Amino acid sequence: MADKGLEKLFHETLKDIYYAERQILKALPKLARGAQAPQLKAAFEKHKEETQGQIERLQQVFEIIGKPARGKTCDAIEGIISEGEEILDEFKGDPALDAGLVAAAQAVEHYEIARYGTLKTWAEQLGLSEAVKLFDETLSEEKKTDADLTKLGVSAANVTAKKAA
Ligand SMILES: [Fe+2]
Ligand SMILES: [Fe+2]
Repeated sequence: MADKGLEKLFHETLKDIYYAERQILKALPKLARGAQAPQLKAAFEKHKEETQGQIERLQQVFEIIGKPARGKTCDAIEGIISEGEEILDEFKGDPALDAGLVAAAQAVEHYEIARYGTLKTWAEQLGLSEAVKLFDETLSEEKKTDADLTKLGVSAANVTAKKAA
């Protein structure tokens, strides 16, 4: 672990995603309440449970590097989440609401996939093999969620198209 710069980047990015995950944990129940299709509600609820576990994995990574589990404000996730909240407001009662919520949630998943992919690579380079395993577990949950959302998005957009026809 000689690379001081990379160690610092790793720690800063860990704080970023820790903050982001906790914001996501708060946002998911709002999305679940707002969603119209029961399958979409269920997907948001399931991912809330997973997110809780992901936060615990991040706490384990903080422990591995001997730092306190602390977040750092992440403007990117705040922006992505407020866009989702705007959709909840602006499309309330509209058949297109679910399609909009799926799109918003996929933006969140893609942000997370980017962050965790980077963290995993850096953990490999820093020789943090336990952390690599933890990031891998989270990455598969995020990718699975993204794939499920893609399917739900197709059916949500179909509903909208049918109602419009
Ligand atoms: Fe997550
Ligand atoms: Fe996620």
